[in-house]
Amino acid sequence: MSKSIFITGNIPVAGFNLLKQKDYVVDVNNKNKILNQKELISFLKKKDYDAVLTSLTDKIDSKVINLFPSVKIYANYATGYDNIDLKLTKEKGIVVTNAPTDFSAEAVAEHTIAMMMALATRIVEADKFVRQGKYKGWEPMNFIGLDVVGKTIGLIGAGDIGELVSKYAKGLGMNVVYTDIKRNQNIEEKYEVKYLDSVDDVLKVSDFVSLHVPLLDSTRHLINEERLKLMKPTSFLINTARGPVIDENALEKALRNKVIAGAALDVFEFEPKVVPGLLKLDNVVLSPHIASASIDARNDMAKTAAGNIIDLFEGRAPKNVVN
Ligand code: GLV
Repeated sequence: MSKSIFITGNIPVAGFNLLKQKDYVVDVNNKNKILNQKELISFLKKKDYDAVLTSLTDKIDSKVINLFPSVKIYANYATGYDNIDLKLTKEKGIVVTNAPTDFSAEAVAEHTIAMMMALATRIVEADKFVRQGKYKGWEPMNFIGLDVVGKTIGLIGAGDIGELVSKYAKGLGMNVVYTDIKRNQNIEEKYEVKYLDSVDDVLKVSDFVSLHVPLLDSTRHLINEERLKLMKPTSFLINTARGPVIDENALEKALRNKVIAGAALDVFEFEPKVVPGLLKLDNVVLSPHIASASIDARNDMAKTAAGNIIDLFEGRAPKNVVN
């Protein structure tokens, strides 16, 4: 019997086409919006689906997992997979995969550098100033920013994305330091990146701190009030990883009280909500979780997620099993 698959979001057609070519029955969320859990459940009740191609906003917890025993794979269209209960799926023999691709690592690394440059050059503030009609003539001291050359960027986590950020930061003439639970000899040798023993050490010496860790129990609120105080008052924090890695209320307070100089956030603790105080601060650059939103990255992510489903159904081990 033909396999049936539900795609929870509006992903690039390349992924859909791969599944259709296999003659699977492919249903897509046609609501043109992200589903809340109640909506997801009512879609999944329509059929005994064999696979669900999920988005990072779908909460696949014990409620969903227990309700739909026909599902053999949750293929997440994302690098992160903190939205899925890995322990329970594993216990039940359900496969969970993610969709990391070379292009998505590139896109996130490039977005990280863009955020760093936006903080250094104050380009977002300056853009607002011009649009508001406040530009009345050149001023010697208007929007004084920073050069990044010679500054230090500190990476918390140095997997594929951290490695690319190291490469680009080196190209900009920066010093790069990092910490991770696993040392990355490759970046140490290739880009002369210096390993430091702890998160605290990285925070103390960096002009820019960039987060590249997954969301785990051990990384939730990794950056809290105490750790923000370890950063230099002239330094900036960048988060393109997962919102809850930062205690966002503590960050808002630290920014308001000038404990650090600024922050750039692509992800939020209470996504899609943003701690309201952050919206009022000029020294904050915000984007709506789009770091991997390049056309190449999203096409490859869709193909990777679909490929994982096809592998499972054709008796091969999917490439990106995470549970
Ligand atoms: C995006 O946040 C992803 O995990 O791919």
